[in-house]
Amino acid sequence: MATQTRVSPASGILSPDNEDKRSDLIDLLKTAYWMEIETVMSYIANSTNPDGVRAREVVEHLQEDIQAELGHAEQFGQRIKELYGVVPGSLEFNAEQTYLQPPSEQTDVVHVIKGVIEAEAGAIEHYQRIIEFCDGLDLVTQDMVIAIQRDEQQHLRLFEGFLREYEVEGRA
Ligand SMILES: [Fe+2]
Ligand SMILES: [Fe+2]
Repeated sequence: MATQTRVSPASGILSPDNEDKRSDLIDLLKTAYWMEIETVMSYIANSTNPDGVRAREVVEHLQEDIQAELGHAEQFGQRIKELYGVVPGSLEFNAEQTYLQPPSEQTDVVHVIKGVIEAEAGAIEHYQRIIEFCDGLDLVTQDMVIAIQRDEQQHLRLFEGFLREYEVEGRA
């Protein structure tokens, strides 16, 4: 009798029947991983570049968010590994955040706020896709992504509040 090297659970994301779904889920998680990594890059730039008194509050929150987004990237990487995937190397990275490039004027904090809102909304949308994909299939990943999605909702809400202030003044 042959020795089994890996005993697979009969149900759930690790079952042999769900091989294709596991592979699709790993792809979704890789996308999420890259989104977090790019957000870290963008938030470092956009928390360093701005000039002016009014940019201070935005800069401070972005600095805090860098650590949160880095933690999310690590969690996505860890989950990819747990699902028998491989965390991609840097050569697979493709930048997408056109809206978070430095503004032409470094006092243009509205540009930064709008860029952050777009990044957070995009993350929330992609994580919603993962949460729905995991339904009844992988509650561990689902649980993790729900918690991360809440962080992004908090980020989004905060920056929408910043934007509102500028809108009220007719500056956005
Ligand atoms: Fe994040
Ligand atoms: Fe975020």
